[in-house]
Amino acid sequence: MKRTHHCNALRETDIGQTVTLMGWVATRRDLGGLLFIDLRDREGITQVVINPDTDPILGAIGHQIRSEYVVAVTGVVEQRPKGNDNPQLATGAIEVLVRRCEILNASKTPPFAIADEANASEETRLKYRFLDLRRPVLQRVLRQRHEAAQCVRHYLSNHEFLEVETPVLTKSTPEGARDYLVPSRIYPGRFFALPQSPQLFKQLLMVAGCDRYFQIVKCYRDEDLRADRQPEFTQIDIELSFTPRDEFLPIVEGLVTALWKTVRGVDLVTPFPRLTYAEAMASYGTDMPDRRIPWEIVDCTELFRGTEFRAIAEVLAAKGVVKAFNARGQAAACSRKVTDQLAELVKPFGAKGVLTTRLDDAGLQGVLAKHLTGDRRAEFIRALDLKSGDIAMVIADSLPVATAAIGALRVQFGRQQLAPAADVFSFCWVLDFPLLQWDPTTNRHVSVHHPFTAPHPDDLHLLGADPARCRSLAYDLVLNASEIAGGSIRIHSAEIQQQVFAALQITPEAAKEKFGFLLEALAYGAPPHGGIAFGFDRLMMLLAGAESIRDVIAFPKTAKAYDLMVDAPNTVSPEQLAELGIKILKQ
Ligand code: AMO
Repeated sequence: MKRTHHCNALRETDIGQTVTLMGWVATRRDLGGLLFIDLRDREGITQVVINPDTDPILGAIGHQIRSEYVVAVTGVVEQRPKGNDNPQLATGAIEVLVRRCEILNASKTPPFAIADEANASEETRLKYRFLDLRRPVLQRVLRQRHEAAQCVRHYLSNHEFLEVETPVLTKSTPEGARDYLVPSRIYPGRFFALPQSPQLFKQLLMVAGCDRYFQIVKCYRDEDLRADRQPEFTQIDIELSFTPRDEFLPIVEGLVTALWKTVRGVDLVTPFPRLTYAEAMASYGTDMPDRRIPWEIVDCTELFRGTEFRAIAEVLAAKGVVKAFNARGQAAACSRKVTDQLAELVKPFGAKGVLTTRLDDAGLQGVLAKHLTGDRRAEFIRALDLKSGDIAMVIADSLPVATAAIGALRVQFGRQQLAPAADVFSFCWVLDFPLLQWDPTTNRHVSVHHPFTAPHPDDLHLLGADPARCRSLAYDLVLNASEIAGGSIRIHSAEIQQQVFAALQITPEAAKEKFGFLLEALAYGAPPHGGIAFGFDRLMMLLAGAESIRDVIAFPKTAKAYDLMVDAPNTVSPEQLAELGIKILKQ
C-alpha cells in the first residue's frame, strides 16, 4: 500500500475519492457493530470506519487493533452522517469507509494516554519521551521550533550573516558556570571542555574577516539548575563587525519581529523600549522587568528625610533608602490578610516588611500618612500619582535589599492582581550593565557578563580607579521578565583586554595560559565587533506559550540534569576508564 494523504488532509471536496492513510490508532470505539478509529499522524486525525460485516478478513483485523497500533487503511472518503461531524477537527466533516486494512505494527498498551492533557507524571513522560512526543501539543511545538529555526536562518542569511560551525571539543570559556569535561585518550590526564558558548570562536571569526556570523548551536553548562535552565541548551549565536550598537540592535529587533510574525502571526511594534541598567533597577528593582505590570518604583528617600517614624528613621540613619510604588486601584483588594502575606513575600529578600498607605476620599490613610506632615504628604501623593482607591507599598531598607524586595513585591503582587496575559509580549532592552561586580566569596571583582565585554567609553578612566562603577557596552533583551538574549560590544584592543584582565585580577601569565590565542588574535588587526546570543529554548518557550523549557526540547534532561530515557549519565566499563587513565574515587 502507498500512502496517498496524511491524516489532516481530507476535506468534503475529497468525498468519493479512494485514499490510503497510515498512522497510529489514537482511539478505537465499537459502536453498533461498526469500528470507529481515530487515525493519527504528525499532521492530525482522520476518523476511519470499519464495517466488519462487509468482509470477514477486514472484520478480524479490525478486532485485533488496539491503541497505538500502526495501521494502513485504504477506503473511500464519505460525508459523515448528519449530526456526527466534529467541528473540532479539520477533517471533522468526513470519514473514510475502510475497504482494506493492514496492521503495520502492534503496540504494547502505552503507560499514558497520548492526548494533549497528559495523565502521567513528568518522570513517566520523560522516560517514554518517544510516546510523549506523539502528543499533538508536543508535535506542534516541534513544528514551531522548526519554523523558528528556518526563520532565523532565512532572516540572518538575508542580512549577510554566514552560518559557521565552531568546535564542540574545546577549551574552557568563562561564561560563569562549571564546564562539562571530556577526557582525552590520546593525551592522558588532559581534558577538552564542552563550550559554554562559542564566544571566543565567534570573536576569532571576526578577526578572521568573516564580518557577520551566526550559528544555531548547542551550549553546555554544568550549573545549578533552575526551572528555565538545561545543562545543554541551544543558542542563536550572532556576531558582526564594523557595526555600532545602535545599528546592531535594530537588526536584532528585525529578527525577533520576523520570528513572532512567522510562528505566532503577531506584528510586534519596534523599536523596543530601551532602559539603562540603572533605570531598570530604579524603576523595576530588577534588570529583567515585567513591563506588563505598569506600576513603577519611585524613590521616596528624600520625602522621609528627618522623619520621626522609627522604622524609617533607623534605615535612613544607616544610609538606607525608601522605595515605593502605587498599586493602582488595589486598595480594596488589600485586606489585613493580604498585607500580611505581602510582608512574608519580601522576607526572603532580607526586608523586614512592607508599609502600606491607601488614599481614599478622606485623604491618605494609616500610620505612614501620619508621619508625612505638611507639604510632604501632598508631595508623596504627587510623586506616586495616587488617586482615590490606590494603595502605596513602601519598603525602607539598605539600597540592595529595598531594590530587590520592592521589585519582587511589584511583580508578584502585580501578577496576582492584574494577571497579565501570556500573549502580551512586552520587550525591552536593558543597556549599559556594570562591567564588573564585587564577589565577596573570592574577594575580587568578577565580570557581570564575560571578560570580553567592552567597557563603556565614557567610563574607561574608572577601570583602574573605581572598577565597580565602570559601565559596559553590554545589553540584554528582556521579554516579560525573562532574559531571552544577552550580548555586548567586545573589546577589540589587546591593551584594553589586558586592563580588564588586570581589573579581574587575572595575571598576565594566567591570561596568556587561558586566552593567549585571543590576545594574540587581537594583536593582528581585530575589527571593532559585537554580538548577541539568544537562548533558543527560552525563546521557544515564550513563543509557543509552553510552561516548561522541557516542553520545547525534543529530548530534555530532568530538572536534576538526568536523561531518564537513555539513563544518562551512566557508569562506563573499567576498560574504558583504564584507556583514559581515569580512576574513580569512592564517593
Ligand atoms: P549568556 O550567558 O547571557 O551569553 O547566554 C545567552 C542566552 O542563553 C540563554 N541561557 C540558557 N538557556 C537555557 N539553559 C541555560 N542553562 C542557559 N544559560 C543561558 C539565556 C541567555 O540570555 N556568549 C554570550 C553571548 C554574547 O555575549 O554574545 C552568552 O553566552 O536566554
